[in-house]
Amino acid sequence: MRTLIQNGTVVNAGGSSRADVLIDGETIAAVGLLTNAAADVRIDATDKYVIPGAIDVHTHMELPFGGTFAKDTFETGTRAAAFGGTTSIIDFAVQSRGKSLREGLDAWHAKAERNAVIDYGFHMIMSDVNADSLREMDALVAEGVTDFKLFTAYPGVFFSDDGAVFRAMQQTAKNGGLILMHAENGPAIDVVAAQAVEAGQTDPYFHGVVRYPIFEGEATNRVIRLAEAAGVPVYIVHLSARDALDAVRAARDRGANAFAETCPQYLFLSLDDLGNGFEGAKFVCSPPLRTADHQDELWTGLVKGDLQVISTDHCPFDFHDQKQLGQGDFRKIPNGLPGVEDRVDLMHDGGVVGGRISRERWVEVLSAAPARLFGLEGRKGVVAPGADADLVIYDPDRRHTISAKTHHMNVDYSCYEGRVVQGGSDVVLSRGEVIVEGGEWLGAKGRGKFLPRRPTGGSIR
Ligand code: URP
Ligand code: ZN
Ligand code: ZN
Repeated sequence: MRTLIQNGTVVNAGGSSRADVLIDGETIAAVGLLTNAAADVRIDATDKYVIPGAIDVHTHMELPFGGTFAKDTFETGTRAAAFGGTTSIIDFAVQSRGKSLREGLDAWHAKAERNAVIDYGFHMIMSDVNADSLREMDALVAEGVTDFKLFTAYPGVFFSDDGAVFRAMQQTAKNGGLILMHAENGPAIDVVAAQAVEAGQTDPYFHGVVRYPIFEGEATNRVIRLAEAAGVPVYIVHLSARDALDAVRAARDRGANAFAETCPQYLFLSLDDLGNGFEGAKFVCSPPLRTADHQDELWTGLVKGDLQVISTDHCPFDFHDQKQLGQGDFRKIPNGLPGVEDRVDLMHDGGVVGGRISRERWVEVLSAAPARLFGLEGRKGVVAPGADADLVIYDPDRRHTISAKTHHMNVDYSCYEGRVVQGGSDVVLSRGEVIVEGGEWLGAKGRGKFLPRRPTGGSIR
């Protein structure tokens, strides 16, 4: 089937132009002035942008955390993503302590297959670095699971010590993959958190207080230094604090192969949201929301290119039964926020409409850079012949109010309840198929395909 999207403004990271887009089957066949092209279906995009479907490289569908599971399944989470203009995700498969990487990866394939409605890839969370898991890393890279996330946070759960992190980095330096780091000093945080609880400071607000920005800055600098020693590229996930940004900027200034993402919650929300008694539990994530003065520096990092990607770290827990696990002790609140549906619009509203970034930079941080860094370049993240026809017809003028009453994420609250945003996805296509149109769901459960990715190694400047 051939579909022609006519009269829109095609926005790529490299520039925008008035152009039509011809889709043949699952791929883009041509981009240009194509009025006379033969097509079975025509979609009018007058006054709209035609952008590459956004790629969210940081989601946690069904993540086990704190005695419960993130609520979105691959079906509900990817459908919500699609409503918000995201057409690919890279989720985190988890190696449980004492188990192999393979067992973890197989479990995530089983969760996603026949459920995901958009295309998906996996990163691998390593919880147990040992001779066997190190050997397994090479096999995973060869089958398209090309990155490994390690944690200097969450002692007793996902935490790895410096030796384990370094050993995984050495292995990745050899196999061409990428190391992703959750960089906070977990042991130091645990000391301060225990002291806070002992002093009766048990509200969610103190989750934000005890995880000092300097603990994130210290860990970020340390893991980048370890990566430089191992000769491996490193990508800092969910960077939240100026202290960490300073470490990334300094590394990049000296030519290190260091990259970083931030998330909308760190640009639009702040420590104040963690106040208001137990309501603050809705905003508990790690690293935590920071004081508002960090936000301007993150925006500057995004403008100047020290931050390359906006992801969501989508990890939703219901307020009513799941976040409540932490009543009386903030350390027991499951960590994570919903957001996979809101990223494209928040970044359009706060970034493009707000005058902070161009529409091309918006596409760059949401689609093009994620594709380039994570081995999908050419196939995703661009409106160009030969690429998958993952496209969004985006109305830059439409305004809507974000609310849990209308969102599609399977979670009982929104961090942005009542916020009016300008911009919205009118039509969403995944590999040439219209899956969302005018707020209606047209896709089928399980239509999403696994995305094996190319290792990008050190060639991703
Ligand atoms: O609070 C968060 N970020 N939850 C998800 C797990 C992680 O650390 O990414
Ligand atoms: Zn993390
Ligand atoms: Zn995460």
